[in-house]
Amino acid sequence: MYFVSDMDTTSTLWNTLVTEIRSIGIDSPAVFGCGNFGGYLIQQNAEEYASLICLMKQYGPFKNYLEIGAASGGNLRFIHENVGFARAISFDDCSHPHSTFQDENSKSFSNKLTRFIGDSHSYEASHTLEVWVKNDKIDFAFIDGDHSALGVLQDFNMVLPYLADNALVVFHDTISIGVSIEHMPKLKPKAHFVSKHNPCGILVCELNEG
Ligand SMILES: C[S@@+](CC[C@H](N)C(=O)[O-])C[C@H]1O[C@@H](n2cnc3c(N)ncnc32)[C@H](O)[C@@H]1O
Repeated sequence: MYFVSDMDTTSTLWNTLVTEIRSIGIDSPAVFGCGNFGGYLIQQNAEEYASLICLMKQYGPFKNYLEIGAASGGNLRFIHENVGFARAISFDDCSHPHSTFQDENSKSFSNKLTRFIGDSHSYEASHTLEVWVKNDKIDFAFIDGDHSALGVLQDFNMVLPYLADNALVVFHDTISIGVSIEHMPKLKPKAHFVSKHNPCGILVCELNEG
């Protein structure tokens, strides 16, 4: 288990990111413990998210970014602006009230984005992914849709055949869901960012070559 305190929280980049994340607008300041309601409407703990972005910057920009559970699309926007991707696919059932902000949040990169609207566990979702990927595999997957342990496993199993050898897979809300990768032997944990304040939990994994 890695904690935010294991990161170099004195680094200029991390502190700049925490300040910026607190300023861009959040879905629920009470839940995430920071920022103001509105703007990007992200659903992230600023310290954990800054840690993730620091790590992503070491590997990105990415070729094929995937997100399951986009909600407002604010996370996609922030990653596009701060890390970058050549193209992206999002899966979201648009049942969240702030999903109406997806157009606004993706307007600067709408030409790179394919949106699947519906259940990520459906046949249509896996078929859409297969068609989208073709021979160009996913190098970053952010899994933040159905918040049940089984739902997370289903999402991961859908994505697994399409992951590049060097792909990173991120699970959000590990604390509330109790995400365990014991049923995902293809993965090995790389970092687990858990803030001391209002933690959500961000688990970063890479493919297990062994
Ligand atoms: C926690 S929010 C995502 C937050 C976003 N990733 C962020 O960082 O701001 C989860 C989203 O997943 C969607 N969702 C939940 N279950 C889903 C499913 N089975 N298929 C597609 N979307 C789903 C919800 O409607 C919601 O928009």
